[in-house]
Amino acid sequence: MTVRARLARLRGGRLVLATHNPGKLREFAALLRPLDVELVAAGELGLPEPAETGRDFAANARIKARAAARASGLPALADDSGLAVTALDGAPGVHSARWAGPARDFARAMRRIHDALAARAGRFADADRRAAFVCVLALAWPDGRAVTFEGRVAGELVWPPRGRGGFGYDPVFVPCGDARTFAEMSAEEKARFSHRAKAVEALLEAVREAEARAGD
Ligand code: IMP
Repeated sequence: MTVRARLARLRGGRLVLATHNPGKLREFAALLRPLDVELVAAGELGLPEPAETGRDFAANARIKARAAARASGLPALADDSGLAVTALDGAPGVHSARWAGPARDFARAMRRIHDALAARAGRFADADRRAAFVCVLALAWPDGRAVTFEGRVAGELVWPPRGRGGFGYDPVFVPCGDARTFAEMSAEEKARFSHRAKAVEALLEAVREAEARAGD
């Protein structure tokens, strides 16, 4: 069956969300509401967490979605996200969480980005400070077929970190079109820019298009 035909059959069915993170589960449940699917958490099914060995966000998202789809016999959705800094060739990228170390010390991870940019340009203020938060969603079926959708928000890095909201790299990221860091915004304000919301919107658009052409 083609991917388009599969997308056209998603609505109203069951969909595994391959995340063990309750915060993400809530966020995706809200974003996916228009699809009218019954979401099943990977954790509820006791599915294993595969090693994220991919070289990019899409590869890691596919690894997670395929593992969940194969183990559950249902379509499964997984995401992978992180910060890509232009002058660092996309780093930390898929290593965004790892740069914070086992203690999840993001002050250290942000400092590492600052130091790398400062080292390249002589000082941070003179560096190319462009960056983007990227989220790739992979939707996979039990036979291993998979399709990906990307959402990204472009912005600029600032130093020192500002704001107490958000998480991860939010205190050093100012999205294009605003002067505040993500950590200086409320959750609702940040959500308007969200790379996760944009990736879900791309998925929803593909489903709507597949449904519209299903009768062709
Ligand atoms: P994962 O997709 O759960 O593996 O997340 C990867 C890492 O990217 C997280 O640990 C965060 O540090 C970073 N990240 C992803 N999205 C955001 C965001 O919206 N704000 C700040 N950091 C983020």
